[in-house]
Amino acid sequence: MTIVTLSGSLRAVSSNAALLQAAAALAPPGMQVVHYTGLGDLPAFNPDRDGEDAAASAPGPVRVLRALLGRADGFIISSPEYAHGVPGAFKNALDWVVSSGELVEKPLLLLNAAPAGGQHAHAALVEILRTMSAQVLTEASHISPFLPRKLGPEGRLDDASAAAVRRSLAALAQAVTARLLSWPA
Ligand SMILES: Cc1cc2nc3c(=O)[nH]c(=O)nc-3n(C[C@H](O)[C@H](O)[C@H](O)COP(=O)(O)O)c2cc1C
Repeated sequence: MTIVTLSGSLRAVSSNAALLQAAAALAPPGMQVVHYTGLGDLPAFNPDRDGEDAAASAPGPVRVLRALLGRADGFIISSPEYAHGVPGAFKNALDWVVSSGELVEKPLLLLNAAPAGGQHAHAALVEILRTMSAQVLTEASHISPFLPRKLGPEGRLDDASAAAVRRSLAALAQAVTARLLSWPA
C-alpha cells in the first residue's frame, strides 16, 4: 500500500515534516511512504481553474498534487497551527482537491508536532477533511504528544512516542486493507 504524507508547514526545518519522516521510518512491512513536497509550488486556489475540464486546465503543480494523492491508498497529515487555524498554504492545497476528490473515502491519520497542542487546527482539520469525505481515523490520530523535543538529533522519536506512532500506522494499514477488501470483485 502507498501512503502519502503531507506537512502543513513550508519551513525548511519543519518539525511537522521531521515528525512525518520519523513516522515513515517506522512504517510496517508492505507500507510504502511517499512525502509530498510541492506545497510551496501551488498557486492560490481558483474555482475557475477547477471545473469539469480540470484535468486539462489545472496548473502543473496541481496536476502533480492530484496525481500523487490519487495513487495513494491513505494519508498522514501533520500541520502546524497558525492563529488558532490551519495554515493558509495548507488549506490552499486541500481546496485544490475538494472537487477532484483524491481524498474521498481514503483513511487518513492526523499527527501533530505543535508545542502548544494545536487543538484548534486539529479540530478544524477534522471538520475540513470529513467534509471532503476522507476517512479520518480520529482514535489513531494524536493532537499533542509528539513535541519536537521528542525528536532526537537524528530525527528519531523516543521509545514511547515511537510505540504510539507504530500503533497509529498499524491502524492506518488496517483501515486501508479493510477498504481495499470491501471493493466489489
Ligand atoms: C504566525 C504563527 C502563528 C502561530 N500560531 C499558533 C497558534 O495559534 N497555536 C499554536 O499552538 N501554535 C502556533 N504557532 C506555533 C506553530 O504552530 C509551531 O511553531 C509549529 O510547531 C511550527 O511547525 P513547523 O516546525 O512544522 O513549521 C504559530 C506560529 C506562527 C509562525
